[in-house]
Parts: sequence; structure tokens; C-alpha cells
Amino acid sequence: MQYDLVITDVEIVSPTGTAVGNIAINGQTIAAVGDVSESEGRRLLKGSGLTAIPGVIDTQVHFREPGMTHKEDLESGTRAAVVGGTTTIFEMPNTNPTTTTEAALKDKLRRAEGRAWCDYSFFFGATTENAELLASAEKLPGSPGIKIFMGSSTGSLLVSDDEDVRRVLKHGKRPVAVHSEHEPRLRERKALISANPHPREHPFLRDAESARLCTERLLRLSAETQRPVHILHISTADELPLIREAKDKGLNNTAEVTPQHLWFNADDYERLGSLLQMNPPIRSKDHQEALWKALDADLFDVFGSDHAPHTLDEKAKPYPESPSGMPGVQTMLAALLTFVHQGRLSMEKLVRMACANPAKLYGIKNKGSIAPGFDADLVLIDRKASYQFTRNLVESKCGWSPYEGETFYGSIEHVFLRGNWMLRDGGLQHHAVGQPVTFDWK
Ligand code: DOR
Repeated sequence: MQYDLVITDVEIVSPTGTAVGNIAINGQTIAAVGDVSESEGRRLLKGSGLTAIPGVIDTQVHFREPGMTHKEDLESGTRAAVVGGTTTIFEMPNTNPTTTTEAALKDKLRRAEGRAWCDYSFFFGATTENAELLASAEKLPGSPGIKIFMGSSTGSLLVSDDEDVRRVLKHGKRPVAVHSEHEPRLRERKALISANPHPREHPFLRDAESARLCTERLLRLSAETQRPVHILHISTADELPLIREAKDKGLNNTAEVTPQHLWFNADDYERLGSLLQMNPPIRSKDHQEALWKALDADLFDVFGSDHAPHTLDEKAKPYPESPSGMPGVQTMLAALLTFVHQGRLSMEKLVRMACANPAKLYGIKNKGSIAPGFDADLVLIDRKASYQFTRNLVESKCGWSPYEGETFYGSIEHVFLRGNWMLRDGGLQHHAVGQPVTFDWK
């Protein structure tokens, strides 16, 4: 047999184990794993000393196009993704205009053509007006389904009342991604801001009870309508027993945790100020530790970056005018590999939560695994290397990162997207060959 490329002697990680072997690629697809000889490759890549994982699938990013392209656009956002080892992104609907109509979804798909460095799909935003149309909207090509903002954040999207959330959940079948913060409480607590506001107040104003209350309501509505929900960026200890209980009941509900809620805690507001401001907030050490325990206990299904870029000028506005959100699509895998280096996360769990589970959860076709027949989306990592992450390494248009100055362990050497060699020896190659993700969703 002849293959376009054979990667030799590489450590290959799956959710269940790690083994050294060869990977053969033909065209866009993984053709064989393990039993392949060097002589079968028209080209060879010596993988000895490197670790191969499937391309990361980041199911929560905000790329700002259309409407706010001074912060990010589809070209710069997907470039940041691929340089960081993410080969598939799902983008959120809180752009301007919002992605709440078929025309707006088609517009995003048109804009991405020829400009995306990784594969992509665009969430369809739920509103109180379009709830009845969502069963057909979730089937539109190029979309992983529906997103609900139950608490308001950047942009105007909001479905907060029980009756409206119920209407959304009743129309469709796919898992619904939800931003879970209780809107009435968020509004009420705005009045509690101090006379000299500082971002350290953010987790007090948008407190843990706001998240708990909303997640409790959401899980009740999910059980009532028998519609699975995927709860984004869990940030509190208080929500964890509710999620456990729902999972034990077998409702197929899932939850995401972000690297930043695991990496940072409220002490970091003193150093980073509004750069750390996001919704739901980075919280106290107690919450951070509870998230780590829940991660260890396999409560979370996926990692997502919630990449939400804003410019430094915007972030420099005095709190609370400073916008919420931080970039993260480029640094998600780097942060996770650093957790692995620290002995706090296994490579197998990393692959399960950053690659395999996102594919399974959303029914993505042929991604998330290094196996014959799957897309040749691969990341090759030198796990022995370390480097300091500095501003000049940032690809995002926003031009900064909360991880500046931090040391990352594990360098991303090569990235393949459907067989295209996008990153070679750490340098960006090739061109923007990203395509819409396809789904096997019944
Ligand atoms: O902090 C956040 N920023 N949370 C969100 O849910 C939205 C995001 C954004 O789009 O800026």
C-alpha cells in the first residue's frame, strides 16, 4: 500500500490509552494506524519523541464577525485556533447581527469560505421570537444547533423566563448549549456595586447563587421537556451536585469547564483586573478547587475555551463598563498540556474531553479520534518542551492574553487539518482550507 504521508514512531493518545505506532494519511483521511511501514509513505514525518492527539474541537468560541471585526474576525480567530492545535470550532451567535435567522447563518457560512484556517460550524441563537422555528433551524447545514443565553452577557441575546426556555426546549432534539446565569438576580445585584468599583466585585455581583438558581431551573425544564442541555462554562461548586443528580437520572445532560476557570481564581483580579472579567466570573479558590474535584470525578464532559476577545482599549474602561470575556482559543490546549505536565490531568482525559466527547456530543462526522476513516486532523506535540507565552505569540486580533508571562509545558509542533499540513515545526503553513463541519445527527 502507498500512503501520502506516514508519521512514524509517534506516541498516539486515545481516551482509553497510549501506544507508540505509525499513522498513515491518504488525502484528507487517516488510512491506517499502527501496522504501517515507513516504505509505504510517499512522504515521511519522523514522530519519535512526539505525541499525537486528534485535532482539538472547541465548541465555544466568539469570533465577532459580522459586526465587531475590530476585536476578531473569522480569519484571525480560526488562525489563532489552528496555531494552538484546535482544528474545529463552533462559533457563538452573539455577533451583530445575531445568528438568529437562516439568512444570518448563511451569511456567516459565506464569510468563512476561503478564510477559515480550521473547520467550523455556527450556533443558531434562540430568541423569544424564533422559539417555534428552532426545530427546523437546528437542522440547517453548517450549524451544531441552538444556543440559549439565559443570563445576559455580551450582546442582546436573552431567553430568561421559564415559559420561553420551555418553548425553546420543546422545539427540536439536539442538545441545546446554554449560558446559565439567573437574569433577575443579575439585574437585582447590579445595585450592590461599591462606590469605587473594581473587577474583583464581578464574582460578587454575578454571584454563585445566580449560576446555581439558573442551572437548577434549566435542569428542571430539561427533565420536563426531555430535551438534553449542554451547560457551558460551569463556574461554581453549587451547581456540581445538581449536574451529578441530573446525570444520575440519565437525562443525557452534559457540562463544559473552561481552562481559565481551572487556571485562575479571584486572587488574580488584583494582578489582571478587567482582563480576567468574564461571564460567568472567575471565582474564589474554593470554587476553583471544587471544579478540579469535579473534573477528577469525571463530572465534566468537554473543555471549551469561551474565546471572547475584546480590545485592550475596551478592557481599559472602568469596571463595570469594561466588557466581559477573554481570548482563549489559541491557549486552550497549551493550558491543558500544562495541567498534564503538573500531573493534574491525564493525556487520555485531555483527549476524551477536548476531542472525542465534543464529537460524540454533537454528532460530528469523522472527527475526534485517530482511527482509520476519520479526518486526518492531528496535533503533534513535543511534551518535553516548555516556553513562556508572550504577547508577540498572540494570533487573535485583540492582541493580548490573560496567560502572558505564564510558562506552558508542551509545544505544538505540527497540526494537520484533513491531511493539510497547517502548522509545520511550529510555523504556520498552507492556507485557509477550513470547511463547514458535517454531522451524523438523526
Ligand atoms: O464573558 C463572556 N463574554 N461571556 C459570554 O457569555 C459572552 C462573551 C462575549 O461574547 O464577550
